[in-house]
Amino acid sequence: MRTVHSLKELRTILRTYRQQEKTIALVPTMGNLHEGHIALVRKATEAADIVVTSIFVNPMQFGANEDLATYPRTLADDQSKLAEAGNTLIFAPTAEEIYPDGLASQTRVSVPSVSEGHCGASRPGHFEGVATVVTMLFNMVQPDTAVFGEKDFQQLAVIRKMVRDLMIPIEILGVATVREEDGLAKSSRNGYLSAEERALAPVIYQTLTKTAKQLEQGRSDYQALEQEARQALLEAGLRPDYFTIVNSHTLTPAAASDRELTLLAAAFLGTTRLIDNISLTR
Ligand code: PAJ
Repeated sequence: MRTVHSLKELRTILRTYRQQEKTIALVPTMGNLHEGHIALVRKATEAADIVVTSIFVNPMQFGANEDLATYPRTLADDQSKLAEAGNTLIFAPTAEEIYPDGLASQTRVSVPSVSEGHCGASRPGHFEGVATVVTMLFNMVQPDTAVFGEKDFQQLAVIRKMVRDLMIPIEILGVATVREEDGLAKSSRNGYLSAEERALAPVIYQTLTKTAKQLEQGRSDYQALEQEARQALLEAGLRPDYFTIVNSHTLTPAAASDRELTLLAAAFLGTTRLIDNISLTR
C-alpha cells in the first residue's frame, strides 16, 4: 500500500489503474482512524477494485474556535490500519497542496436546504467546507464510488444532494454507525473526553434509543419528545446543542404523516461536542 502526498503522484498512479479498467472507490477521512472508518474501507473494497483513502484535516470546515490545531494526526497508525483493511492507496495532501492560493479566495460549493439547521446552524460554514473539499477530492480521484458514514447523517445528506444537483457521476454508499460496546458512536473526538466525561457519553445514544422506541410505540408529539430528550441529556450532565426529530430525506421537522424519521442529536461534554443519530420507519 502506498501513501502519496501530491496530486501529481496521485494522478500518475490512478491513470495506470484506469488504463487497466479497474474501478475505484474513495473513502474521504480526516485520519486518526478507528473501526468506523475501517468499516467504510471494507465496504469500499467490496464495491471497487482499488480503494483510495484520503486523509486531510480540512481547514475550511473548521470554525475559528474549533479544534483544527488540536485535531489528532496519526499517519503511521492510520497506515497500518488501512493496510490491514485492504486499502490500496492513501492520499494525504498538505493544506498547501489543496488550497495553494489560501482559503479566502477559494471557490466554494454550497448546498442549500439540507445544510441548514442542526450542525449547519451550530457550525456556520462547516458544510460549505465539507462540500467544497469533497468536490475537490472527487475531481482529484475521479472515483466510481465514494463511501461515507451514517454517523454524520447530515453530512451524508449534503453529499447526496450535491451529487444529485451537480450531476456528479459517482455512486454514494452509506455505512451504518460503528459503536463502542456501551453504544457510544466511535469518533476521533471521543479521545478528547476525560474518564468522567467518557462515562457519561453513552447517554446520547441511550436517549436516542429511548426516544426512538417511544416513536415506534406510536407517540407523535414530537416537540414534547424532543424537550424530554434534551432534559434527559441535561440532567445526565451533558449540555445539549440540539435534539430533533426530522424527516429522514429532507431533514426538516417531522410531520405527523412522515414514516421515515431520523433523530439527530448533538451535545457537549465539557468542551467536546459529540453527535449521533438514529433512523426508524413506522
Ligand atoms: P471524518 O470525521 O474523519 O470521517 C470520515 C468518514 O468516516 C465520514 O464519512 C464519517 O461519517 C465516517 N465515520 C466516522 N465515525 C464513524 C462511525 N462511528 N461509524 C461509521 N462511520 C463513521 O467526516 C469527515 O471526516 C470529513 O467531514 C470529510 C468527509 C473527510 C471531509 O473533510
